[in-house]
Amino acid sequence: MQKINFTSSSITSSRLIYGCMRIAGDNTPADKAKGKLALRAALEAGYNHFDHADIYGGGHCESLFGELLTELKQETPTIREQLIITSKAGIRFEPQRYDFSTDYLTTSVENSLKRLNVDYLDMFLLHRPDYLFNTEEVAQTFQQLKASGKVKHFGVSNFSPSQVSLLQSALDEPLLVNQIEINIHNISSLTDGSLDQCQQLGITPIAWCPLGGVAYPAWGNTFSTADEERIAAELARQGEQYNCSPWQLILAWLLKHPANICPIIGSTTPERIVAAKQALAIEYNHADWYRLLEARNGYAQP
Ligand SMILES: NC(=O)c1ccc[n+]([C@@H]2O[C@H](COP(=O)([O-])OP(=O)(O)OC[C@H]3O[C@@H](n4cnc5c(N)ncnc54)[C@H](OP(=O)(O)O)[C@@H]3O)[C@@H](O)[C@H]2O)c1
Repeated sequence: MQKINFTSSSITSSRLIYGCMRIAGDNTPADKAKGKLALRAALEAGYNHFDHADIYGGGHCESLFGELLTELKQETPTIREQLIITSKAGIRFEPQRYDFSTDYLTTSVENSLKRLNVDYLDMFLLHRPDYLFNTEEVAQTFQQLKASGKVKHFGVSNFSPSQVSLLQSALDEPLLVNQIEINIHNISSLTDGSLDQCQQLGITPIAWCPLGGVAYPAWGNTFSTADEERIAAELARQGEQYNCSPWQLILAWLLKHPANICPIIGSTTPERIVAAKQALAIEYNHADWYRLLEARNGYAQP
């Protein structure tokens, strides 16, 4: 598996990150067993970076990962140090909706550590921007979490470029990542400055739901049947050319961007988790990148 260093940090992540949002399913014994198999497949395939959030599966996803880690430690006592474990917090349900207060974030990190059965998070991300957040309070919280050894590095998720700049201005260490939705349906990061800012500041963009709009309808789907047919036709044509499946091409399309996007693979199917790696070997042509963009947009680039 290709590796990428997150600028100015000790973090060396697999280029494809494994997303743990779906691993617990409905938390039945069968779903949990399936989730563990998916995690083992990811480890076997060379994914070393696992993405969590306090809210995934209501905490069950982190707990399942913690259970597996306990088993893995019997087999490989140093396994924890070989992994990059990221978690997120800041979204709350009771009361709704976002909360970046020191108490809330600190308690959330402590609960994640317990569920994951680890002493520290490699990265802690603010899950979604709290429009009411106090930058100085967040900066202090980050300092305390770092000083306590509970978190090594910090990042954000779903932050606009100006929100990243605002928070960064209050911090004495760099934000390492901005985890945002990037897929063939949601391409706003190409034009809203997010990917430009990542390149400028050395922030790694991490793409969530990378297959939205192809493997399943993306969030807030606006594609018409005609859009889907046009995209499918171009993907089929390119699939023959590159000898790969449409969804692998979509990953290659993301990987081609010079900001070094790291897609998060959220499949729980071992074959797909492994096959996603083939996208890293596709030598994706510049002109084909634009052909797919034009098929997606339904008009030629000017
Ligand atoms: N920061 C945020 O706000 C945010 C939001 C959402 C997600 N995330 C993170 O991003 C990760 C990835 O998101 P995601 O799980 O939505 O990602 P994804 O990899 O785009 O989608 C995975 C889903 O697509 C299905 N799938 C994959 N390949 C397929 C194919 N060839 N044909 C049909 N279905 C296919 C999978 O089904 P199978 O499992 O059956 O293979 C699974 O249901 C999450 O795990 C989470 O860590 C972050």
